[in-house]
Amino acid sequence: MCGIVGYIGHRDACEVIMKGLCRLEYRGYDSAGIAMIEPGGIAVRKREGKLSGLAELLEESPLRGHCGIGHTRWATHGEPDTPNSHPHTDCSGHIALVHNGIIENYLSLRMALIEEGHTFTSKTDSEVLVHLVEKYYQGNLLDAVKRAVASAEGAYAIAVISDRTPDEIVVARKASPLVIGVGEGEGFIASDVPAILEYTNRVLYLNDNELARVTRDGIAIYDLSLKPLAREPVTIEWTLEQAEKGGYETFMLKEIYEQPSSFQDVLRGRILPGRDGVTLAMKGIDDAFIRSLEKVSIISCGTACYAGMGGRYLLEHFTDLAVEVDYSSEFRYRCPKLDRNTLVMTVSQSGETADTIASLRMAREKGCKIVSVVNVVGSTIDRESDGVIHTHAGPEIGVASTKAYTAQLGALVLFALHVGRVRGQVTPADARAIIEELESLPGKIDRALATEGAVRSIAQKHFRVKSAFYLGRGFNYPNALEGALKLKEISYLHAEGYPAGEMKHGPNALIDRDFLVVCICTRSVRYDKMISNIKEVEARGGRIVAVGTEGDPNLKDIAGDVIYVPETMEELSPIVNVIPLQLFAYHIARLRGCDIDKPRNLAKSVTVE
Ligand code: AGP
Repeated sequence: MCGIVGYIGHRDACEVIMKGLCRLEYRGYDSAGIAMIEPGGIAVRKREGKLSGLAELLEESPLRGHCGIGHTRWATHGEPDTPNSHPHTDCSGHIALVHNGIIENYLSLRMALIEEGHTFTSKTDSEVLVHLVEKYYQGNLLDAVKRAVASAEGAYAIAVISDRTPDEIVVARKASPLVIGVGEGEGFIASDVPAILEYTNRVLYLNDNELARVTRDGIAIYDLSLKPLAREPVTIEWTLEQAEKGGYETFMLKEIYEQPSSFQDVLRGRILPGRDGVTLAMKGIDDAFIRSLEKVSIISCGTACYAGMGGRYLLEHFTDLAVEVDYSSEFRYRCPKLDRNTLVMTVSQSGETADTIASLRMAREKGCKIVSVVNVVGSTIDRESDGVIHTHAGPEIGVASTKAYTAQLGALVLFALHVGRVRGQVTPADARAIIEELESLPGKIDRALATEGAVRSIAQKHFRVKSAFYLGRGFNYPNALEGALKLKEISYLHAEGYPAGEMKHGPNALIDRDFLVVCICTRSVRYDKMISNIKEVEARGGRIVAVGTEGDPNLKDIAGDVIYVPETMEELSPIVNVIPLQLFAYHIARLRGCDIDKPRNLAKSVTVE
């Protein structure tokens, strides 16, 4: 998500940090800032927008020093503006901090700190951390940081400096990446290796629940009880380009593999303490409005539209609401019957898709309230919606959407669950069961990723086909559409998603021994019907690749190839089942020699009609 760079040593720290932040620029960000220990104390420069804006500010009022921290922000809590940008300072201005991650209990911490007399200057979750460090500081920065992170729940990589202890940077990590670069008489810190690779390729990786003190003389790593830990530096052999992709060959593959943690981030801070419901903090949407609703109309494009279709199945399953789904490009030109009792939902990774924005505005003119599922905080759709569920998937660079899709599905599960609880259609016991299963999904996504070797071999058999169908039923019908979209956009193969029951109404005529048919057939209430549909394809000689549940004894007899994924609730199964579909499209495209991160004729964000 956010980028962190820090330096202590003999060089111009501002220059090292700016260069490092520029190296992280490819990931996207909305504001940037630097804090420096200067002779007169801590000095901060930060600015909304691109690094060029920060560079201009530094020209006007330079920072001079040899110990500092810098940050590029990808907003999660609070708009992308200058007050919300990092570094944040404490009330006294003696401590500065940068943070990457999400502090789940920041609201209660913030209220308690305000009561104790702390003054906040931003709307971020991160700022609580610097006030906690201030609260616990008694002459030892490492000890204060240790006590501060002990109060924080969630994910963090932080770097902290203080002008009272000007010869150190203290860092801590839990569930967000942090590396420390080893130099001669100097030390570097960064959220990602590319930021410091120009200076050193010897790094120490900080693990979860560890802290470190970085000084000119060396690096000391500690556990949370401040017991010193021994760690040898590793030598990074990657080129800069490889390092940007975290060692993966493409951004798409990196993003596919980020899904266990990006899915975890959708849930962060949203499960109620009693675990019988969720909190979504949708400002303009209260429970009375949710109870008064009659219809939900979901509008979006591409992958986001397939997530929206998944949302329809979820809302219809968990509530008594009528639900419609539309492609934004169709919705804006038809005459939908909308009124105050219709909630319009948009789903968008970028928050800038032209057709979705136009549809949102049309719905607003008809008096509808808008709830949006959005990844980019501060985007047009984010700003123009009454309630927003941020997906917190982090920047997605590959044109083909992967982690944004599973995050959108996660957000829509939370929304459907919330609406079902408010309207009394989901019981506390049911909510607990769903939440428990949701929390198990990062582990199950991880296991689904372990199919990559098998998926690669299956792709090897089929990458020369000319056409493919993707079949699914119920919750997995939208997933079939998404699987087909992934294949066509990155491998340039013709592929269509179909509801499996529809095949006998025409498409079966196309099936022959060269036609690839990918069938999503994990355990579900329609499992037997899906098996019958697969048999119809088998009877016509199609090449069947099935996605099935681990332990399923039937599929291997009717499908040429089977990819087994862990079992989960049927309602949540698209989140696990899509993983092998992403990997399959990826390996087919790779074998066909396609430019996976930048497929021809496509743009990441479609900001024109
Ligand atoms: C999917 O891989 C594509 N990148 C595309 O279909 C995308 O989902 C669509 O353009 C919608 O974009 P948005 O989520 O940014 O609104």
